[in-house]
Amino acid sequence: MTITIFLYCCLFFLGSFKADAACENEESSDPCVCIKDTPDIPPICAEVTTGDKLKESFATKAPKTVENIAITNAKDLTTLPAEVFGEVQTKNVKIVFTGLSSIDENAFKGSEHELLTIHLEGNDLANFDFKSLKTLTKLNSFTLTNDKLKEMPANSIADLPVMNTIILANNSISSIKNHAFHNLLAVEQIDLSKNDLTTIDEIFHFGNTTKKLTIDLSANKISSTNDNAFKDVNANYLNLTDNQLKTLTEKTFKPLLSYMNLTGETGKIELKGNPGSHDKANCWWLTEPSFKKSVSNFMFEDNGKEMNQMTDDELKKMCNTGSRMSLFRFETLVLASILVLLINSKMSEFGS
Ligand SMILES: *[C@@H]1O[C@H](CO)[C@@H](O)[C@H](O)[C@H]1NC(C)=O
Ligand SMILES: *[C@@H]1O[C@H](CO)[C@@H](O)[C@H](O)[C@H]1NC(C)=O
Ligand SMILES: *[C@@H]1O[C@H](CO)[C@@H](O)[C@H](O)[C@H]1NC(C)=O
Ligand SMILES: *[C@@H]1O[C@H](CO)[C@@H](O)[C@H](O)[C@H]1NC(C)=O
Repeated sequence: MTITIFLYCCLFFLGSFKADAACENEESSDPCVCIKDTPDIPPICAEVTTGDKLKESFATKAPKTVENIAITNAKDLTTLPAEVFGEVQTKNVKIVFTGLSSIDENAFKGSEHELLTIHLEGNDLANFDFKSLKTLTKLNSFTLTNDKLKEMPANSIADLPVMNTIILANNSISSIKNHAFHNLLAVEQIDLSKNDLTTIDEIFHFGNTTKKLTIDLSANKISSTNDNAFKDVNANYLNLTDNQLKTLTEKTFKPLLSYMNLTGETGKIELKGNPGSHDKANCWWLTEPSFKKSVSNFMFEDNGKEMNQMTDDELKKMCNTGSRMSLFRFETLVLASILVLLINSKMSEFGS
């Protein structure tokens, strides 16, 4: 009896493994659609060419809620039309390595009360109509990665009560409008690494989040930040590795460091690979020990020292020199200007 059950389990396991293989194995080059947890709907491979063909194929299927629809390697699939899955509702959508360049605003209509995750990877998406997410009340994970996404409008990802994980890494995002991430109380991870951002505006406007939040902005070209960039952002970890930040301005970073200080030892702003400079008025406020401990690997290029390797006194001394240095430069500039003016007036006297 036990042996029979065991054998059945093995067969079942093998069966489900085989059915999925074509879609889960990303090395495989076969275009394929796999519909998981539905032995009566076998993987469809031949029918996946264009979006319209895909829709026709789903139109023949009976209403059903399935675990997962995965579309892989379909290079001829360039558009996803409205209500593409017909009456098949799915909890998870995965579309990887296709030619997909546009997704209709209503593509996932029908699944709005089922969809938990959307995973888009290695497609051909320079634009994404974020309005298509508005009605997906159960969505907790959205991934659009290794693609060509360029910008995010205001309220791109907004008012989704259980949204937890947002991965937008390795795109070409150079513009994110204010409040692009809005009212997301359950958010825990936002990954915007490997994009083309040069500045951070007031893009995060979550509300009072309830989870430990990690924001990854590493490997961009960020050289400036809006004063309110991290206002009311209760993040425990901010990854700014490999950017172009010279200073940490008090207005931008104090709210975040104050939050980290309040929540204990775990908060970190990671700043490895930024051309830190102490020759700015923005150095002094960081000498506060409870802030210093949360700033990781911020190296000052002018003396090759990392902020958190310095003693409190060393840092204070350096930041003092920093402000005096800039004052000194200011004075030099004023003197030079006066000199130029003097010479100019002498020259014009001489000329007349
Ligand atoms: C980034 O995405 C491109 C495709 O757009 C891919 O070829 C490349 O391997 C990805 N890089 C990383 C580090 O994942
Ligand atoms: C977050 O909570 C604090 C304290 O409970 C409150 O003062 C603040 O107004 C809240 N902020 C938002 C955006 O709801
Ligand atoms: C921060 O970003 C860097 C560069 O992308 C990465 O190597 C590192 O693992 C990240 N740190 C964490 C804790 O995710
Ligand atoms: C950091 O937290 C400690 C302990 O709660 C507190 O005494 C201190 O004033 C805080 N520092 C700042 C700069 O907020």
